[in-house]
Amino acid sequence: MDGGATSVEEARARHADLVAQGKSAVHAVFHTADVTLSALPADSGTFDIVSSMFFVQFCFSTSVAAAHVLDEVTRVLKDKGVFCCILPDGDRVASLLRDRRTQVAFGHFKLHKCPLQKTQEAPYGVAYNFSLTDSACTEFVVSPKLLRTMLESRGFVGGWPGGEFFMGAQHLLSQGAESETVSTILRGQKCSQIDWMSLGFFSVVLAKKKIPLVETKDPSPVKRRRKCDSTPGASA
Ligand SMILES: C[S@@+](CC[C@H](N)C(=O)[O-])C[C@H]1O[C@@H](n2cnc3c(N)ncnc32)[C@H](O)[C@@H]1O
Repeated sequence: MDGGATSVEEARARHADLVAQGKSAVHAVFHTADVTLSALPADSGTFDIVSSMFFVQFCFSTSVAAAHVLDEVTRVLKDKGVFCCILPDGDRVASLLRDRRTQVAFGHFKLHKCPLQKTQEAPYGVAYNFSLTDSACTEFVVSPKLLRTMLESRGFVGGWPGGEFFMGAQHLLSQGAESETVSTILRGQKCSQIDWMSLGFFSVVLAKKKIPLVETKDPSPVKRRRKCDSTPGASA
């Protein structure tokens, strides 16, 4: 699902390519809609995984928009389902934007601070333009602490080792198993290794939806065992 018809067409074409090459047997359905305003087109408890790539930072224009998107992710996931997303590291973005300069460049990435508009609310609405080349699109700072709190309040636990919610993309990409993927992307995007490694700017969020606890009125098992043990004829 994506709000831009062009992006949806690109995704459809990529999927058709993968199917034609025998690299995917996934049945994919594509929708064009504004995710901050619409319900996800699925029943509650449908999916094992919900993933969102380079997108969540567009949903934090307001608290209402951010809450709506996370409520919908929670609703369509099964219990124990996983939410996985890649987004800019909000703490790093915020520290770059705190700088007196209005534009920050690293590799072929550029960040440009936007004047805060009246409709935006902190801490959600801190806007910046992010661009790879000359064209820029407006994104919003997503504080890792805030996102974690919002996910925890919806019953998620961190999915990374140690129960962490965030892992730097740079750490993942430096692992041997990912090196082939990295070279493929580098060939496709014609950017330098230094630029690619500056993707350490991004975080990968992994969050698991907990099973709701079922309350039981039973007495504790220890008490019951003792009662049985005292019954004549009971065996250990
Ligand atoms: C950086 S692109 C990432 C596209 C794709 N997920 C990928 O990884 O290649 C960000 C996408 O977010 C979409 N987008 C931004 N705001 C949106 C909204 N409110 N609802 C739906 N899509 C939105 C844009 O149309 C754009 O395609």
